[in-house]
Amino acid sequence: MPHPPPVMTAVVLEHPGAGAVLLREMAVPSPGPRDLLIRVRAAAVNPRDWMMVAGRYPFSRTLPRRPFVPGADVAGEVAVAGRRVSGFRPGDRVFAMQTLAGGLGAFAPWCVVRAGVCARIPENLCFETAAGIPLAGLTALQGLGRRLAGRRVLVIGASGGVGHLAVQIARAAGAEVTGVCSGRNVAFARDLGCRHVINYEMAEFDAGSRRYDRVFDTIGRESPARCRQVLMPGGVHVTTVPRRVALRRAAVDLGLGWVPRRRPTRLVLVRSSGPRLAELAALADEGRLKCHVDRTWPLSQVDDALSASRSGRTRGKLVLRIDQDRGEDY
Ligand SMILES: NC(=O)c1ccc[n+]([C@@H]2O[C@H](COP(=O)([O-])OP(=O)(O)OC[C@H]3O[C@@H](n4cnc5c(N)ncnc54)[C@H](OP(=O)(O)O)[C@@H]3O)[C@@H](O)[C@H]2O)c1
Repeated sequence: MPHPPPVMTAVVLEHPGAGAVLLREMAVPSPGPRDLLIRVRAAAVNPRDWMMVAGRYPFSRTLPRRPFVPGADVAGEVAVAGRRVSGFRPGDRVFAMQTLAGGLGAFAPWCVVRAGVCARIPENLCFETAAGIPLAGLTALQGLGRRLAGRRVLVIGASGGVGHLAVQIARAAGAEVTGVCSGRNVAFARDLGCRHVINYEMAEFDAGSRRYDRVFDTIGRESPARCRQVLMPGGVHVTTVPRRVALRRAAVDLGLGWVPRRRPTRLVLVRSSGPRLAELAALADEGRLKCHVDRTWPLSQVDDALSASRSGRTRGKLVLRIDQDRGEDY
């Protein structure tokens, strides 16, 4: 493992808006006692990255102070482990969802992450496929909840970053999964493990008589009331997209408000966790969770990657490559 240099060229967000992200030379961050300094090999792009850059991230008050290096999903090798870190050593292949409180920073050749939110990359995964898993996979895992065996799960947006991992996680847990996607993604959704697929260009997701224990909406275009109509008694509607009803429910969960109990709508707000990421790594190691990488770019083409994410047409994940050995144009 080469020694970290004093400076690196990273993607920096100064002001949201056009031309917001720039490649800038800056100091390589230093790890604290509980941190890992990761030599980044790949970083996935999530919709919230383009939202931050465009000034449309709904929780903008939680963002690091500008200028900052965006990017949450990181995969690479441990360069330095802080003195209070146990379980990771220099050279280990690791991945993580870097937190907002941790300052983000994945769109860079070097990134400091708390060891507690990292997990080892299974040997059968390359850095690019590993990078696509943490944020989307943790969202799926936390949104779907436990005890899925024998349950009927509807995943709206089965071909997207969160949805394609959710289908596989639910399937691996023993659920019968129905996916909602467009015609071009029907075969993809079936390959992921959907027993039934609803092509949203041909049919409404609530047209038939099928009812579900969980409706996991990763798109947020359907109204919560409509999603709840296809629930079996005791079923739960979970969404990844903040809308008023879901936000009210989240406020209740945080002890900040009240909402009638009979409204089983929940907003998942993803939380980074090393142990939960290790659960996903175990599934990937067994071949039961595969991250589909739609497209990759070098770090210098981050604008193109953000535009692709903004199009809303991603199948699986979009990933930035950071190949320091080849001196690629990062
Ligand atoms: N709350 C949280 O903690 C959290 C965490 C992660 C993500 N999110 C949010 O969740 C949403 C999804 O994230 P993501 O990473 O999965 O996005 P993504 O990968 O960009 O989703 C794109 C996919 O959505 C599909 N799609 C578009 N419109 C659709 C529709 N009407 N019905 C079904 N599928 C449709 C597209 O397929 P076609 O092109 O074939 O339509 C494409 O495959 C984003 O808004 C993101 O910000 C929230």
